[in-house]
Parts: sequence; structure tokens; C-alpha cells
Amino acid sequence: MNIEQRPPGDDPASANNMHVAVIMDGNGRWASNRGWPRLVGHRKGAERVRELVNACPDLGIRYLTLYAFSTENWSRTTEEVLGLMSLFGRYIKREAGRMKKEGVRMRIIGDRTPLDPKLRALFDWIEEDTRDNDRVHLTVAINYGGRDEIRRAAQSVARAVASGMLDPDMISDQTLNAHMDTAALPDPDLVVRTSGETRVSNFLLWQAAYAEYIFTPVLWPDFTPETMNTILDAFAKRERRFGGVVT
Ligand code: FPP
Repeated sequence: MNIEQRPPGDDPASANNMHVAVIMDGNGRWASNRGWPRLVGHRKGAERVRELVNACPDLGIRYLTLYAFSTENWSRTTEEVLGLMSLFGRYIKREAGRMKKEGVRMRIIGDRTPLDPKLRALFDWIEEDTRDNDRVHLTVAINYGGRDEIRRAAQSVARAVASGMLDPDMISDQTLNAHMDTAALPDPDLVVRTSGETRVSNFLLWQAAYAEYIFTPVLWPDFTPETMNTILDAFAKRERRFGGVVT
């Protein structure tokens, strides 16, 4: 099926309201296969991000959450880490106008505290600048780890208890959810990982409790809206039971 033909609501998630999360993997290999520096793969990857964001309304994706830099990625060379950080900044500056125009609301999740203050200011700015948009919700995970997010949420809940604002017996899933970086987002319906790796790698551990997972061998710099469309066709055939039975 091509993208234009995707009828609204032909998948188990609500019509045109899907939340798809992507572990964008394989940039380094894509570049190395061509004898190029890894950063070239990341740059190509950023182009793929732009294409996919623009295709979201046609694909029926309302929420797109992308894993761009994990809490473990600091172990890469300084050149690669700085190159990635600068790429994130450039992406925001270049895409701000288009996002504003196309109704894209951008959020950044993850622990910002160790990031460069200029980059943090840019994150604050783009979140504010696009806060009234509602057509596509683009969330980029930077210095993000699922366990780290749960730890920070637990600390925040513990502070509320310690201050007498929260009764421990009243803590529910919703309470925890409200303290997550993703508090404003629905849970993902689908998590996609590219490059043939079949690990979760600390991504959305709390939120993906009932998500479907689809793994594709395609390296992220080769991932097009058509690739996503094929994946969505496969997702639409899956039976989601959320722990229950189909009657
Ligand atoms: C994983 O591939 C990819 C990353 C750690 C970086 C992802 C970043 C981008 C796609 C750049 C742009 C993003 C935005 C939001 C502007 P890898 O480097 O681990 O690949 P490898 O496993 O082949 O080495």
C-alpha cells in the first residue's frame, strides 16, 4: 500500500493518532560501509528524521518519539558526541520555521542537566515556540535512559511524599506516569528498531509495557517514509490484546 492510500483507522491504534517510537540505529555502519566518518551517517540520519516528520500526517502518525542519544552514548569519542550535539542544535535551528508552519510540536526528553547551556536554551526555546502545535508531536530523546527516567520520577515522587503533599498509599500508575518525561504523551503503540539489532536498549521501559515491537534490518540512513509505511502495514495485522483475550 502506498502512503497516500492508507485509509484512516486501518490499524488497531486509533485513527491517525498513532504513537510510534523509533530506535534509530545503524548510522555508524552505514557510513563505515562507505568508508566515511561516522558523523556522515548521523548527518544522513538527520535528513531521514526530517523526511519522516514531514510524512507523519500522511502515515497516520500523530506522535513520533525518536531515540537520538542515550545515557550510554557518552562513551563514544568526544568528536562523535560533540558532532551529535551540534547536529541536534542545527536541526532545531533549520527546522524551526517548517515545524511551526506544519503544526509540529517538538519536545525533548531525557536529563538535560549535563548538556551545554546553549543547547539547553535552544531546547527550551523550540518547546515554547511550538507549544501551540498539535498536528504532529515530535519528541526527541537526548541523554535519555529508561532506567534513569524511572529513577528521576521516583525521586520526584519521593520528594512529594517527603513534603507531605502525597500519601504513599495514593501512588498509582498514573502518579508515576505524571512524573515521567513523557507525562504529556500517550504510551507508544509501536516501537521500531532499525539496523537488525533486536534489543530494547533502555528505551521507554515504562511506557512501552504494551507496545508492539518491530525490528527491521534497514539502517537508519536508508529508512524512508515508505519503509515506515511497510512497517505500519505489518503492525496493522497484529492482534493487540493488552493482556486480555480476543472475544
Ligand atoms: C545510532 O546509530 C544512532 C545514534 C546514536 C544517533 C542518532 C542520531 C541521529 C539520527 C541524528 C539526528 C537526529 C535528530 C533528532 C536531528 P549508531 O551510531 O549506533 O550506528 P552503529 O550501530 O551502526 O554504529
